[in-house]
Amino acid sequence: MLELARLNTGLDEPALQHLHRLVASWQVLADLSFSDLQLLASIEGEAGRRFLVLGQVRPTTGQTLYPEDLVGRVVEESERPLVARAWHLGEITHGVAPVLGASEPARLECIPVREGGRTIAVVSLEASTTSARRQGELERHYVEVFDRLALMLVEGSFPFGESEVELEEAPRVGDGVIVLDEGRRVRFASPNAVSALHRMGIHAYTTGLQLGEVGFDQSPIDAMYRSPSPVMVEMQRGESSVVVHAFPLLDAQAVVGGIVLLRDVTAIRHRDRMLVTKDATIREIHHRVKNNLQTIAALLRLQARRLRSAEARSALEESERRIRAIAVVHETLSRDASDVVPFDEIVRPLARLVEEASAGPDFPIRIEVEGHVGDIPGELATPMAVVLNELVQNAVEHAYPPGKARAGAGRVRVTLAREGDDAVLEVADDGVGLPTGFELDEATGLGLSIVHTLVTTEMGGSMELHDDHGARAVVRVPVRSPGQDA
Ligand SMILES: Nc1ncnc2c1ncn2[C@@H]1O[C@H](COP(=O)(O)OP(=O)(O)OP(=O)(O)O)[C@@H](O)[C@H]1O
Ligand SMILES: [Mg+2]
Repeated sequence: MLELARLNTGLDEPALQHLHRLVASWQVLADLSFSDLQLLASIEGEAGRRFLVLGQVRPTTGQTLYPEDLVGRVVEESERPLVARAWHLGEITHGVAPVLGASEPARLECIPVREGGRTIAVVSLEASTTSARRQGELERHYVEVFDRLALMLVEGSFPFGESEVELEEAPRVGDGVIVLDEGRRVRFASPNAVSALHRMGIHAYTTGLQLGEVGFDQSPIDAMYRSPSPVMVEMQRGESSVVVHAFPLLDAQAVVGGIVLLRDVTAIRHRDRMLVTKDATIREIHHRVKNNLQTIAALLRLQARRLRSAEARSALEESERRIRAIAVVHETLSRDASDVVPFDEIVRPLARLVEEASAGPDFPIRIEVEGHVGDIPGELATPMAVVLNELVQNAVEHAYPPGKARAGAGRVRVTLAREGDDAVLEVADDGVGLPTGFELDEATGLGLSIVHTLVTTEMGGSMELHDDHGARAVVRVPVRSPGQDA
């Protein structure tokens, strides 16, 4: 809207900001008048002979005459003489004219928008001539309030000076309206407003009373009358939450009444709280799973220490190691309970775990991690972590046998990559390499069997083992990218 106006109307910055605020707050005008509204400004240098539609809003309380988008449309003076008159005279005009681009007649009210003592635009209000809306008590009150707001547009006191907070949950006319008089007493409360009050536990008949007298916290309304400017607050009463948007009705700066829009947001707040609790619960469960796994690992270690058989001891120690690797996954999940897991964040702690466990004073082994796989589906996180753990463990365990390894330090490189829909993990070391004649299919060790089964059967991927200046394992696993999963 601002861009369109800047390029075509020659309006200055204060005028543009005024129109910007108007468009931010004019839904209430459309709803109270049950009409379509258009904001038209004279095209630069055309002195009210041609107008540009800068904005459009439809009533949420009634039917629209304009299902199509009018913004950017150029309107000739001959199509909308009422708009031109309002623009030239700075006065509200009324009449009947065909709907833009059609022949059916519409009832028009054209209101000059004035700012700093000049007319900067025109709001054209259009309603069907056949609509029988303006009848009941509700309609009468709405239209009366609308007429006051229309005069405020001409006076320049609507929209309100300060930019209002744009809340997604800002109440609309349809949510509930209370019309207050000069003395802050209720003149009218719409049925939805009465229901909202009921849900707040206010059952008294309110007409003629101040809201404070029936137990409603009136302080925001008092503030609105005193300032006088709009207020928006969320009120809590018992179980219910209500967003209150109140603004003054002005006549030449004097407050002659007020409007209170109410929206019951109890259900929304309840849902928000439930979501927060559900998230927290999932995280808490992962935290506990992690703690339990660490307890199991500690028990295995205690048991291993009591064993005399070296083989039995190393079997238990290996199990301990595997369980600790899975605990790392749950540790990550306990920080962020979502369906996908940032696998990169799991890799470093896993590598550190192996590094620390292998740290011998005579032959240090450094594990380096590079690249990214990004988010992977939650159900793949544990098998991927186990696979990585086994491969890194093998490098540490077998690549640098005492006496055979070169002097210096071992260097194990873990490389992560995302190739299309595949996650690719590579673990390469600069050690002695695979034993001669080694075949993956014939390998009998538990570690590589676990890796092979998880990669091919459980995750539908593939793996290769190479011997190139050390051992190099490459694992490729399909991971659906987020958004693709059904
Ligand atoms: N990075 C490597 N460098 C040299 N040899 C390796 C490497 N990785 C695996 N191997 C060889 O492959 C064999 C099988 O490995 P696997 O992980 O299946 O069993 P393991 O490590 O011997 O036992 P476990 O993993 O159950 O503790 C190893 O015993 C080792 O000889
Ligand atoms: Mg192994």
